[in-house]
Amino acid sequence: MVESPQALRVALLGCGVVGTEVVRLLTAQADDLAARVGARLEIVGIAVRDVQAPRDAVVDRALLTDDASALVDRSDVVIEVMGGIEPARTLLLRAIDGGAAVVTANKALLGHDGPTLYAAADRAGVDLYFEAAVAGAIPLVRPVRESLAGDRVTRVLGIVNGTTNYVLDEMTTKGLDAAQAVRQAQALGFAEADPTADVEGHDAAAKAAILASLAFHTRVSTDDVHCEGITGVTAQDVRWAAQTGHVIKLLAIAERIGDGAVAVRVHPALVPADHPLASVHGGFNAVFVEAEAAGELMFYGRGAGGAPTASAILGDVVTVARHRVGGGKGPVESSYADLGVLDIGEATTRYQIVLRVADRPGVLAQVSAELAGHGVSIETVRQARSDLGGDEQADLLLVTHASRDAALSATVRALAGLPVVDAVLSVLRVEGA
Ligand code: HSE
Repeated sequence: MVESPQALRVALLGCGVVGTEVVRLLTAQADDLAARVGARLEIVGIAVRDVQAPRDAVVDRALLTDDASALVDRSDVVIEVMGGIEPARTLLLRAIDGGAAVVTANKALLGHDGPTLYAAADRAGVDLYFEAAVAGAIPLVRPVRESLAGDRVTRVLGIVNGTTNYVLDEMTTKGLDAAQAVRQAQALGFAEADPTADVEGHDAAAKAAILASLAFHTRVSTDDVHCEGITGVTAQDVRWAAQTGHVIKLLAIAERIGDGAVAVRVHPALVPADHPLASVHGGFNAVFVEAEAAGELMFYGRGAGGAPTASAILGDVVTVARHRVGGGKGPVESSYADLGVLDIGEATTRYQIVLRVADRPGVLAQVSAELAGHGVSIETVRQARSDLGGDEQADLLLVTHASRDAALSATVRALAGLPVVDAVLSVLRVEGA
């Protein structure tokens, strides 16, 4: 073991599932961490809302405090796993202004107001690390921020929410409907008691904003992200997707549009059944990063859960602690490119549209004329007798070629107005072809 004259004082803000695993790793690996850092990491306090609440035995109750501000003021490294915007933001700004290094897993805060924290850390000359905020254990923030710093990222696309991937996977492989799959995820401790942030796509949108900011050197906030969750995805959508050789995934996509802009979106999408993302099952995450020189890179692993998230946090803690011991600091956020952030309408995508139509001569011609009129080209058409409609009706599954999202959505609106179209049953984007 490397002896160090002075231990680094570590504060932990929050002690839920992830915080407890952070304590476990800091305790169980104390000697190894000291050897890697060159100083011991001493937990000097754990700020919690309720100091009386039951805790895992690994948590030394003598360290618990409900005075987070005082704890921050006597720390060299502050680890934040409370989540939410406040009081996390105030506490982290206090830590930064006081000269402490910060490690946070708080995607909601960084997605909402990362620039305030990045600027504060830059001014104070302290480290702000957040590998655990995106895709749990998967090293993704650091590769995008550091390994690809010499390249030009063109696109980031992937699955960044484990709960919704689990739900969609259960719907695909077991035929469950969304509500059943969410209940099952909750019973397994996968989904939160209130799964809104996951199923509405907000968690993925925050992660997409963080990744887009890093990848494109541009300030992107969660509010800039077009966000659709999975609550509208039905068991029938999953079956229609299968009929055209796809599975449904909740994707986060951040991409360059032309030279001076980006668009960032989160929505359910069909991906081909033979695409690598289709093989991402259960609570796993997977993200493709495309860069001009590097080409396509794929990152895969556990995107949620106490121990995987704690692993990412500890990696950051070791890094910032090494900087404390050896001098220097990590990279600051850069937003020099200052690209415009465009609406999803400017993104290029493909749609699968399911229409219930009258089953008589000339209907297909009218439908295809409407698409042609909007400059949208059809890739495939399948017609099935309508399961639920009458004998005089058929279900048409149209998959389009790529087009601007605005043109595709205008096409859908026009199709809905055609007299031969009884109903637009489903509209989902298609990605990854
Ligand atoms: N709730 C998230 C997920 C993990 O299911 O992926 C934390 O962001």
